Amino acid sequence: MSPSAPVLATVITGASSGIGEALARQLAAAEEQALVLVARRAARLEALASELRQSGRRVEVIALDLEQPGSAGKLVEAVTARGLAIDTLINNAGFGINDPFADMPLDRIQGMMQLNMVALTELCHAVLPGMRQRRAGRIMNIASVAAFQACPRFAVYGATKSYVLMFSEALAAEEKRNGIRVTAVCPGATDTPFHDVAGNHGTFAAKLMDSPELVARSALRALNGGTPVIVTGLMNKPLPLFVRLFPRSVVTWMAGLLVQREKPVTGA
Ligand SMILES: NC(=O)c1ccc[n+]([C@@H]2O[C@H](COP(=O)([O-])OP(=O)(O)OC[C@H]3O[C@@H](n4cnc5c(N)ncnc54)[C@H](OP(=O)(O)O)[C@@H]3O)[C@@H](O)[C@H]2O)c1
Repeated sequence: MSPSAPVLATVITGASSGIGEALARQLAAAEEQALVLVARRAARLEALASELRQSGRRVEVIALDLEQPGSAGKLVEAVTARGLAIDTLINNAGFGINDPFADMPLDRIQGMMQLNMVALTELCHAVLPGMRQRRAGRIMNIASVAAFQACPRFAVYGATKSYVLMFSEALAAEEKRNGIRVTAVCPGATDTPFHDVAGNHGTFAAKLMDSPELVARSALRALNGGTPVIVTGLMNKPLPLFVRLFPRSVVTWMAGLLVQREKPVTGA
């Protein structure tokens, strides 16, 4: 007797809040596939999973720190051990820090690069052979509008997102012939705990925020439509053109202004 075929699943990293949580809810409402929710905060993932299971969906929780080297491999092993094959990979987990580069602790910089770039790349590499074999699959990588230009105060974060954008666009071109869709999603400022983690409150950028639901909706539409790059939010759409029209030094200066924190008002 041949072993039963694995059940196809959608893996969402960073599903415990913000855009990842919104993606999980929208996928649970729109698709039949099993969902695998990944992040560090197990309790939040479990709460979301039990809510989503009420729609009859199979939902698995894997609590994992993707900043740890080797964690991408562990994640794929844990998914396979549950009898699941990854049909859709959503690399959403990520964080940034609003500070001058030299003032950031080195371990946070290393963690950011590991999470935003290395784990994302290793996960793509791990899932592609299976997708190629099935001649089907979807990969969504969450980049940012920070990907389009240098970002003072977000120097490393912006550079990691430029990497995600370039890497994903190349992957989309390579894998199209294999029936695999790859989409890089570039949200502008979005109303999520990202800004608490980054220390980004009191900036101009954090005043004009889209909802995570809007970002998730546009992202899923782009993924299903085979769009390689999507900038979400009407206000952000002209950005890629804007950065080509102006000198790089002007664009960099403006990007820095947008994330300059207002000075706290001190008492007399
Ligand atoms: N919000 C924005 O303005 C904005 C704009 C452009 C792009 N983005 C991008 O959108 C993505 C989602 O961010 P968000 O705005 O939804 O922020 P968020 O609410 O802070 O979500 C970040 C998610 O990543 C997970 N995560 C963080 N560190 C992790 C780690 N070491 N291992 C595993 N999971 C980890 C968090 O879960 P745990 O803490 O439970 O691990 C959380 O689920 C990120 O890639 C971010 O760069 C955000």
